[in-house]
Amino acid sequence: MVFISNRVKNLTYAIRDVAAVAMELEKQGKRMLYLNIGDPIAYDFKTPEIFREAAKKAIDDGYNGYSASNGVEELRKAIVEKEKKYNNINGLSPEDVLVTNGVSEALQFVIAAATEGGDEILMPGPTYPPYISIAQFFGAVPVTYDCDENNGWQPDIDDIRKKITPKTRMLVLINPNNPTGALYSEKTVKQIIDIAGEHNLLLLSDEIYDRMTFDEQIVSTASIAKDVPVIGFNGFSKIYLAPGWRLGYMYFYDPEDKLTELRKNIEKEGRVRLCAPHPFQIAAITALRGPQDHLIEMNRKLRVRRDLTVKRCNEIEGVSCVTPKGAFYAFPKIDFNGKWPNSKEFVMELMRETGVVVVFGSGFCPRTGEGHFRTVFLPPPEMLNEAFDKIEQFIKSKK
Ligand SMILES: Cc1ncc(COP(=O)(O)O)c(C=O)c1O
Repeated sequence: MVFISNRVKNLTYAIRDVAAVAMELEKQGKRMLYLNIGDPIAYDFKTPEIFREAAKKAIDDGYNGYSASNGVEELRKAIVEKEKKYNNINGLSPEDVLVTNGVSEALQFVIAAATEGGDEILMPGPTYPPYISIAQFFGAVPVTYDCDENNGWQPDIDDIRKKITPKTRMLVLINPNNPTGALYSEKTVKQIIDIAGEHNLLLLSDEIYDRMTFDEQIVSTASIAKDVPVIGFNGFSKIYLAPGWRLGYMYFYDPEDKLTELRKNIEKEGRVRLCAPHPFQIAAITALRGPQDHLIEMNRKLRVRRDLTVKRCNEIEGVSCVTPKGAFYAFPKIDFNGKWPNSKEFVMELMRETGVVVVFGSGFCPRTGEGHFRTVFLPPPEMLNEAFDKIEQFIKSKK
């Protein structure tokens, strides 16, 4: 028997786990309706043509070798410009930016560099599941703070304070959040910054959905953090419709040079893994500096689909859904009424009987996510309607 570490044995990722079962059913000939994939390209969204052309040109122009480990300088400059122009973040320089293989890698770098075994990371409950998995992978302890469904899924500030212990190292906010689509108010962001400042916690702000908002605009954490340092995460998977490019970045907003040592050590991690994809880094410069027209059409489509999703959910007896303000996820609550023991059983039975694939809420936090499921509102209205017809019939049939 080959030895396998507990580190990997215990790795889980609810979204991909559900997908594996769905693919098995599809192989057996069942027609599946996928509402679990956080990838716009899997539906009727396309990477804008000028970005695709820029990627092809970068390959033809010979950008096929390794780049600098921290990323192409012109891209880091363009990222600084973008964060200033759209997110009002001042004081960043290209040296403060590290280009990564998606936000996923940035997350691994920071947790690996800034925690030891047993250190606690405070993160939203519910949260994007890799925050839990990666924390555990590196021996840290994920601790979720409540986000209040009755208050538009805004973080519960008192709960954050209550959960701070001498072992807490990091405080994470994801804005807008996955799976709830909650967009945090300026007051909430400010309160979280104050807590991080008071308790000397490393503040991480994942803003990968920053320009995918439907009612109000994001207040970027670093734009109002003043003297509190912030590590920001962002990338090209969502807003720029290019998840397969595997390109993201982190920036160190650090007005008092408190993060210099951490940054240097994270840069070492960057050198060990060589670099992010070089031709896509070149193309990403065009994505940032070129026309941003695709955002208008993308957000227009998403708003219609969001409204449809929320309406269809709220029409089903026993289901209620808070309106997401950003990203492309909804996180409806479902009253199981003794029919299912938990969200996982509900999702698995729904999938087997109807072919509709959503993700069980407990995968996003066993405590705050239970009793919910996550759906994407990326599909076209016809597909959403077909899926919600099936979900509605399924729930009714179990009366
Ligand atoms: C909040 C959040 N952060 C990060 C990621 C992953 O981003 P990337 O594709 O840049 O690794 C996702 C993907 O769904 C996400 O929802």
